[in-house]
Amino acid sequence: KYEKIWLIFGTATLLVFLSVVGVSAFYLGNQPPSCMATVDPEKVDTLAPFNKPGLNKVEGKEWDYELVFVASAFNYTPGEVEVPLGAKVKVIATTKDVIHGFSVAGTNINMMLTPGYISEYLTTFDKTGEFLILCNEYCGAGHHMMTSKIKVV
Ligand code: CUA
Repeated sequence: KYEKIWLIFGTATLLVFLSVVGVSAFYLGNQPPSCMATVDPEKVDTLAPFNKPGLNKVEGKEWDYELVFVASAFNYTPGEVEVPLGAKVKVIATTKDVIHGFSVAGTNINMMLTPGYISEYLTTFDKTGEFLILCNEYCGAGHHMMTSKIKVV
């Protein structure tokens, strides 16, 4: 009889742990490094798509535009970009130096940019307005000044 109680307790604990892992993975929007594409941080400026930062129209993909950002201490390139309302956009970002954050205020976009890795987020901007991009990983003396802006028009 006691074995049965312990079995239920054990199973319940396992389920709790699994759901915690699931929820944190979902909210952080992070994927394990093994699933992420890589890029040489030293050559970021010369490699596609990072040689063309900003909004680029694409054909034959599930999304209409690629919105490419390169982060480095202490700014993002581009520093401001316009995105058409309702377009399906894949945000693609990386960093040239240290770990930076990439969170867009008022949206679900919140990524960590790690040197050597490419962070991606598929989204649709369905509200017009200006959305501030903030760095939410401490990256040095200029961390608090590190911003960019998405204008949805
Ligand atoms: Cu970049 Cu904090």
